[in-house]
Amino acid sequence: MTDQTAVAKATPTLPDAQTVTSVTHYTDRLFAFRCTRPQSLRFRSGEFVMIGLMGDNGKPLLRAYSIASPSWDEELEFYSIKVPDGPLTSRLQHIQPGEQIILRPKPVGTLVIDALLPGKRLWMLATGTGIAPFASLLRDPETWEKFEQVIVMHTCREAAELTYGGNLVHALPDDPLIGELVAGKLHYYPTTTREDSAQMGRITDNMTSGKVFADLGIAPLDPAQDRAMVCGSLDFNLDIKKVLEDAGLSEGANSAPAEYVVEKAFVD
Ligand code: A2P
Repeated sequence: MTDQTAVAKATPTLPDAQTVTSVTHYTDRLFAFRCTRPQSLRFRSGEFVMIGLMGDNGKPLLRAYSIASPSWDEELEFYSIKVPDGPLTSRLQHIQPGEQIILRPKPVGTLVIDALLPGKRLWMLATGTGIAPFASLLRDPETWEKFEQVIVMHTCREAAELTYGGNLVHALPDDPLIGELVAGKLHYYPTTTREDSAQMGRITDNMTSGKVFADLGIAPLDPAQDRAMVCGSLDFNLDIKKVLEDAGLSEGANSAPAEYVVEKAFVD
């Protein structure tokens, strides 16, 4: 009886509620948070779920968010933009540890290793918050077991917007689970487009000019060996698709794996 009372008291008040455990703000436009994970939630690294808050009208206000944590993590992590007048992120950006979010435990998405044919090199191509699904995939041992090289290209307007991805990538060699797998396989190519930094330019331009291949000392795209995962704004996704198609890669899906896959980054 006592146990049941305790369970009833701990039961969240919202449907599909999860409790926020930590929040980190990176810039005035970007933040990440972690929350509890439903025990029943199984997902493949790279997938997304619907998360949100209860709206003023009493209806859930939900948006698609890539899960940024790996599938083995006991918590879930999300990386988000803050849009001042965005219906969800204008409120979500103020979330505090201990508060609740709504999470529909139905993961879906095409940015998964299963949707790619086997290959030697895996390109992770992201703009802005599009790095989130790669934050998950980069910490999944399967990524490193299936590919000989992983090349992460991430482009943002300003250097501070690269911090979340940069911290994650730089921590990989010391990761107790995958550190040894990563050794010698990882190329990280962050660039900015509107602030001076060590490396600059759009991903599309750095690929079509050949700059990224020259800088990293690696061969140009080859459909027999290269696989790519794309996650960014709609315009970026369209433009990089053309670059990949021109190189001979074709788009895959869960039902028909091929050489590259695409997901649109969350935008409020
Ligand atoms: P740029 O500054 O040249 O527009 P945003 O913040 O608008 O989502 O953009 C994130 C990053 O993606 C920026 O560095 C931006 O470069 C780049 N970007 C935007 N559109 C494209 C595109 N069509 N092709 C390649 N890169 C793009």
